Amino acid sequence: MNDQNSNKFTHEKIETNQFLMIVLILLVISVGGLVEIVPLFFQKSTTQPSEGVTPYSAVQLMGRDIYIREGCYNCHSQMIRPLMAETLRYGHQSMAGEFVYDHPFQWGSKRTGPDLHRVGGKYSDDWHKAHLHNPRDLVPESNMPAYPWLETNLIDPAQGAKSMNALRTVGVPYSQQDIDNAAQELSNVTEQAALIAYLQSLGRAYK
Ligand code: HEC
Repeated sequence: MNDQNSNKFTHEKIETNQFLMIVLILLVISVGGLVEIVPLFFQKSTTQPSEGVTPYSAVQLMGRDIYIREGCYNCHSQMIRPLMAETLRYGHQSMAGEFVYDHPFQWGSKRTGPDLHRVGGKYSDDWHKAHLHNPRDLVPESNMPAYPWLETNLIDPAQGAKSMNALRTVGVPYSQQDIDNAAQELSNVTEQAALIAYLQSLGRAYK
């Protein structure tokens, strides 16, 4: 009898004290969050690159910037979930180790268009050129926008070294030689060519 009364008392105290309630809710959420998140920083499968995953070349890296600038991620995710309907359609589920050099990664759940994680090698470069020029030439019912300006815009060759340097500070293992060669690799490269090089590099590790 005595016990029950004291239990009821403490519970009521929490429920009627907003401040205490908020503090306790935050505590519970933090502990739950930390237990889920902290181990990911130490697991090999999330911190080490999957076999065959290398840092993007200068051209691929600049193509990735175009992908982000043009907002391709607004319609295309790069995250194949481990569900049969997805793996049958797109291929092997996306693995964390495939994204260790992506800052930021291009996961997502918005799929106006298909997931692009395993699009590398699915089509020829010429297919991509025609598709980016006007998607409806290849897929009549497509509602994807056309990106004709990418054909004539040139990549700024100086940008490669800057981006690679920045990525190196967050742990992407670019060598000084990679960085020194970037400007040369990027001379006279169109934005379209860089974007296609990026698309063709996607998802190759688990094909
Ligand atoms: C408004 C939404 C939208 C945007 C923005 C968009 N796409 Fe698409 N994309 C689609 C749709 C819908 C399809 C499917 C029809 C088709 O193939 O055109 C598609 C298809 C594709 C495909 C073929 C995928 C496959 O497996 O067949 C590629 C590659 C692609 N998009 C690349 C891009 C790139 C690169 C960009 C940014 C420059 C982009 N998309 C921007 C909607 C979009």
